[in-house]
Amino acid sequence: MLSNNKKILEHAYYHRYAVGGFNAPNLEIAMAIIEAGAKQKSPVIVESSKSEMHHAGAELLAAIVRRAAEKYNIPISIHLDHGDSYETVREAIEAGYTSVHIDGSGLPFEENMNVTKKVVALAHKHGVSVEGEVGKVLTPKFEGEDSNRSDFFTNPEEAQLFYKETKIDSLAISVGTSHGAYKGETKLDLERISRINHLLGIPLVLHGGSMCPEKQLRQAIFNGVAKVNINTELRLAFTNSIREHLEKNPEEHVPYNFLGPAKEEVKKVVDEKLKLFGSCGKA
Ligand code: G3H
Ligand code: ZN
Repeated sequence: MLSNNKKILEHAYYHRYAVGGFNAPNLEIAMAIIEAGAKQKSPVIVESSKSEMHHAGAELLAAIVRRAAEKYNIPISIHLDHGDSYETVREAIEAGYTSVHIDGSGLPFEENMNVTKKVVALAHKHGVSVEGEVGKVLTPKFEGEDSNRSDFFTNPEEAQLFYKETKIDSLAISVGTSHGAYKGETKLDLERISRINHLLGIPLVLHGGSMCPEKQLRQAIFNGVAKVNINTELRLAFTNSIREHLEKNPEEHVPYNFLGPAKEEVKKVVDEKLKLFGSCGKA
């Protein structure tokens, strides 16, 4: 059944489990996520960044997920990941997305608040939920390599003010994870998560969830994280499977011969994450 992140995440937050925000740029990955969720009776969030959304076409990607949501008896939302502007958010909402992330983390704090307020006004009018972001989740090699990574962590008091002013439904926080395939050792600031949770009392979102050590993830979920974003591990499963198939079968030219197995590999990763996040049986 079609849902939005607010409904999905409030249940997770109050029952101390997390829902996966899994990125999908195409039919195969979207259906791998949904089929894994259905098998485990788990809610799932199918999300796409601006580039992923444009790859498939916003309306078509939303239509795939919305149609699948009629067929499968689990809560499913279609979510814009790292929306970079009011215009991108509007495009997603018009295409039928049920949830959006407005990522103003590269802006000065006041500007981030202003654009987020505008997005909340638009989104809530359409029953669409909003994820805001305070602090910045870095890529492993970040611009100011000489500054301290924790300078970019979410400030709990700023986050509290941000929530009070914007009335977002969930908040993406920077607490030690990073985006992408090449991460150093991850060390989550678990106390910071607890402090933000204590001050805001809304579902928190952990970005850069791929390759995050399991024990730390479980602790983060216990401390208030209700959504964990996973992209890189799905991309690796999908592309490695295709690469291997084409290396073994250089004459291959029938797409479903390699897209089918690649989809199954993505499903295995999603299945493992649903178990780790504690969302199995919660649909
Ligand atoms: O927004 C998406 C994520 O934060 C995914 O991060 O590619 O490191 O799993 P990841
Ligand atoms: Zn992210």
